[in-house]
Amino acid sequence: MILSTELDLTLRPMKYPQFFKLYRDSQKNIWTTDELDFSVDFEHLRDRIPEKEAHMIKRLVAFFATADNLVAHNLVLNFYKHVNSPEYRMFLGKQLYDEMLHVETYLLLVDNYIPDMDERKEAFDAYKTIPSVKKKADFCFKYMDSIDQLDKLDADEKKLQFLKNMICFAACVEGLFFFGSFAYVYFLRNKGLLPGLAAATNWIFRDESMHIEGAMQVISVIRQEYPQFFTEMLEAEVRRMMEEAIEVEMNFCEDALAMGVAGISPVLMRQYLEYCADQRLVQMGFQKRYSSKNPFPFMVLQDVQPLTNFFEKRVTEYQKGLSTKKEAIVFDEAF
Ligand SMILES: [Fe+2]
Ligand SMILES: [Fe+2]
Repeated sequence: MILSTELDLTLRPMKYPQFFKLYRDSQKNIWTTDELDFSVDFEHLRDRIPEKEAHMIKRLVAFFATADNLVAHNLVLNFYKHVNSPEYRMFLGKQLYDEMLHVETYLLLVDNYIPDMDERKEAFDAYKTIPSVKKKADFCFKYMDSIDQLDKLDADEKKLQFLKNMICFAACVEGLFFFGSFAYVYFLRNKGLLPGLAAATNWIFRDESMHIEGAMQVISVIRQEYPQFFTEMLEAEVRRMMEEAIEVEMNFCEDALAMGVAGISPVLMRQYLEYCADQRLVQMGFQKRYSSKNPFPFMVLQDVQPLTNFFEKRVTEYQKGLSTKKEAIVFDEAF
């Protein structure tokens, strides 16, 4: 059983081949930050981005600065510890590498977008100091701290607590907070802005979709092996959790769009988040809640097509990035 406390290290016979397959699939999506180039972004920020959009971008960068580190933290402290499948642990090893790559990407982003050292520090402190970013971090900490004391899942009640942690990070953090942020990036890409961030997001979007898929498959195994957990009470609780996540993300949205940005609005963003929330609920085997349509045509593309980006020299379809690596790009600290 996937949440049993007796450590399973056996790969033959393989109990959960689906996770081994995911691990193998995830190896096809390998890239490095050498493929990224934020130099055109810097020119855009200097010459083409009005103050209103600049404020939105500043908030986005502040969220990105620490978000993947938080996810990685939960991965190691909770997912790796409690999901008792050696196959899934292999997948988690790759996911942890992905998260570190995202951390590195956003470090480069901060260094390139924010020349001033004090402002860089502010971006990294945002999860403690900027209320709309802090709210998102606090939401994560709430579900992380709630199982802080769980060493062993030796009672049903503890297994259920862990399940909620997993649902929170897959459906709300990776599945909503990140998708909300990607929408701002692709909104800008649609206007021909910030090609470096768009290219980085193409890779990260692909990774995050796979991370969510991995966690959703674990949740599905838990549903099969422990059907007693999937009560109406749990469903109601998950709906409340997602509602709360949407409110937290909307609070961020209202801050990010506080100065008003033509073409994107809190009303549309709420609709998009509801659309994402429905997708997550269905992935977990729950009923849809909102039946909202995706209001962002530029995000529909992300759902159905390989991530072709008109700025890019190549397509970020599943492929071994390393084997097709292009020129090295120098990121200058004193940019
Ligand atoms: Fe990530
Ligand atoms: Fe992730």
